[in-house]
Amino acid sequence: MNTRKVKSTSIDYDERDFRNALGVFGTGITVITTRDQSGTNFGVTISSFNSVSLNPPMILWSQGRNAPSHKVFKENPRFVVNVLAADQSDISEQFARPSSDKFAGLQCAYTEDGIAILPGTSGHFECETERQIEGGDHLIFLAKVLNYRHHNDLSPLFFWQGKYISPTMP
Ligand SMILES: Cc1cc2nc3c(=O)[nH]c(=O)nc-3n(C[C@H](O)[C@H](O)[C@H](O)COP(=O)(O)O)c2cc1C
Repeated sequence: MNTRKVKSTSIDYDERDFRNALGVFGTGITVITTRDQSGTNFGVTISSFNSVSLNPPMILWSQGRNAPSHKVFKENPRFVVNVLAADQSDISEQFARPSSDKFAGLQCAYTEDGIAILPGTSGHFECETERQIEGGDHLIFLAKVLNYRHHNDLSPLFFWQGKYISPTMP
């Protein structure tokens, strides 16, 4: 990404510096998968996943509007959030780069809708988008959770200041 000064209505700031500032907030990493009308599977590495509501069960995530896969996520409400485990930084990289076959080498399971569930993750959430909210250069997907599985014995994969961190479970 280019470093550029942005004149905002509220503050003057450097976009690269703002990105670095956001990087002090460590997150987990997910790969969010979906499928288009023709049956092609898509997946993107996403750290903006978060919990929203316990009752009803709801989550959110956001995607850059310029991402090549953005149109597919906008037009197909069903998706799966795959939460990566400590040993899956290679999968994070695989889904963060454009590729004609991001799913190469992965033995996936599938939801009833045919959306990919990645193997070896800490858990996954099958979701349906309820609302799309404009958020600057990103679109926020607010979604209800339809189904989920979790494996609490697996160590998580973290992302902090642009680096992967794989803590071991105590
Ligand atoms: C650790 C990590 C976290 C990311 N989180 C997000 C995110 O929350 N939202 C987003 O739009 N892109 C995020 N990205 C970038 C996308 O993974 C990347 O743009 C991806 O290539 C998009 O896939 P596509 O080219 O198939 O659209 C992240 C990348 C990495 C490595």
